[in-house]
Amino acid sequence: MIQRKFNQSYIVGIASGKGGVGKSIVTVNLAETLVQMGYRVAVVDADLGLSNCAALINESIPGTVLDVMNGKSTINEIILETDGGYSLVTGADEPDVDVMDWSVLYPTLDQVLRKLRTENDFILIDTPAGASDLSFWALDRADIGLLVVVGEPTAISDVYRFCKFVLEVDPTYPFAAVVNFAENEDDAHNVLKRFNTIVNHFMNREFPYLGFVPMDDLVRKSVSDQLPVTRSNPDSHVSKEINFVSSALVGLSQKKTGMAAKKPVPKVSHA
Ligand SMILES: Nc1ncnc2c1ncn2[C@@H]1O[C@H](COP(=O)(O)OP(=O)(O)OP(=O)(O)O)[C@@H](O)[C@H]1O
Ligand SMILES: [Mg+2]
Repeated sequence: MIQRKFNQSYIVGIASGKGGVGKSIVTVNLAETLVQMGYRVAVVDADLGLSNCAALINESIPGTVLDVMNGKSTINEIILETDGGYSLVTGADEPDVDVMDWSVLYPTLDQVLRKLRTENDFILIDTPAGASDLSFWALDRADIGLLVVVGEPTAISDVYRFCKFVLEVDPTYPFAAVVNFAENEDDAHNVLKRFNTIVNHFMNREFPYLGFVPMDDLVRKSVSDQLPVTRSNPDSHVSKEINFVSSALVGLSQKKTGMAAKKPVPKVSHA
């Protein structure tokens, strides 16, 4: 088993205003690449009801946070050790949100997070589309909100409204952006520039660029094959770009106070 490298976890909330922009694809592929880099990683699929991280990697979930909340499972029982080498916790797998007691749900999610923090360098939280309470829970617990931005004007206005909501509560909230469905690096920079122009104009902020994921049929294929592209095609262009995003996250995580990698154990001299 991989030993964790950090003394504490770096939590990433993956969010967007709009649905279908690639949050779950980005989440699982970042998890895959961070494990390949030697980090201990957990994914929390907080898209309650429409969770699909497990389906993206062809795994069956042993239980959900909802089961813990209802006393049907323990936290340990719902942590799935995936073939990709990371842990996966699924919030719920049924769309009937009426069965949820929200006042118990959040403390249960927090308990799960506390457990994952004891074991992982990175915790990636995949959030639902839109400005749901769950997205705000994830961002509140995260060290960084990773926005998945795409070039369509409707998507840009949705992600802007989402950020505005957060920045009105906390103007210093640490967002960063990854551009999905980009044609190439220039296109990705242009998309983020357009987005940052709006954010700067209205909110006086600009979000750092962590990289892009090209529009690539390999990604579409990876969804039907239920095998993340970074595992099936690690040398592809798309996987290399996702690796850059992971490296950028590692860089950010190391800036977190007290986040330095564990000091190497000094060699004991037997002389
Ligand atoms: N870079 C890409 N290239 C090609 N297709 C992509 C790319 N990223 C995502 N897709 C396609 O978009 C679909 C939606 O992606 P994904 O499920 O990750 O979005 P999401 O933001 O998590 O959606 P939701 O809001 O419903 O949770 C994928 O099934 C895939 O077919
Ligand atoms: Mg999703």
